[in-house]
Amino acid sequence: MTSFLLLNGPNLNLLGTREPGIYGTATLEDIVGEAKAYAAARGAELADFQSNAEGDLINALHAARGRHECVILNPGAYTHTSVALMDAIVATGLPVVEVHLSNIHARESFRRDSLISPVAVGVIAGFGAFGYLMAIDAGLNHLKAAK
Ligand code: DQA
Repeated sequence: MTSFLLLNGPNLNLLGTREPGIYGTATLEDIVGEAKAYAAARGAELADFQSNAEGDLINALHAARGRHECVILNPGAYTHTSVALMDAIVATGLPVVEVHLSNIHARESFRRDSLISPVAVGVIAGFGAFGYLMAIDAGLNHLKAAK
C-alpha cells in the first residue's frame, strides 16, 4: 500500500484562526482528516506530522526513508529560507510534492522564491486546503509513472 507522509511546517498548527482571509477557516485537524480519508479512498495511507521547528521537520524527513513512498510538504515560511530542508529532501531522495494554501506568487515578493521547488517533484499553490488532496493524486500519479 502506498504510504504518504504529510509534513506541515511553522504556524500551520494555527490554521483556522491564522489569517483566515489568506489561509481559510479549516483547521489543520480538518485538513489532515480529509487528506487521510481521501488517501484511504484511493487505497493509500497517510501519516502526518507538524512542527514549528526546522530540525524536527528535517528529522521527520530522515525518518520517512523506508517508511513512506512520498512526502507532501507545506514548509510554511521555511519555504523561503531553509537550505537545510532543501538538502534533507535531496539527501533522502524521497519524492516531495510541495503544497501552499495561498498563491505564493500573488503575495509579497519574498514569498515568490522557494528553495524547495527546485528539489520537489512539483508544486501546488493557491487552492487552499484542496491543494493537499490534489497533492495526493499528484503523488500517486508520479509514483505510478516512476515505476
Ligand atoms: C504558506 C506560504 C508561506 O509563504 C507562509 O510563510 C506560510 C504558509 C502557504 O501555505 O500558503 O506559512 O506555505
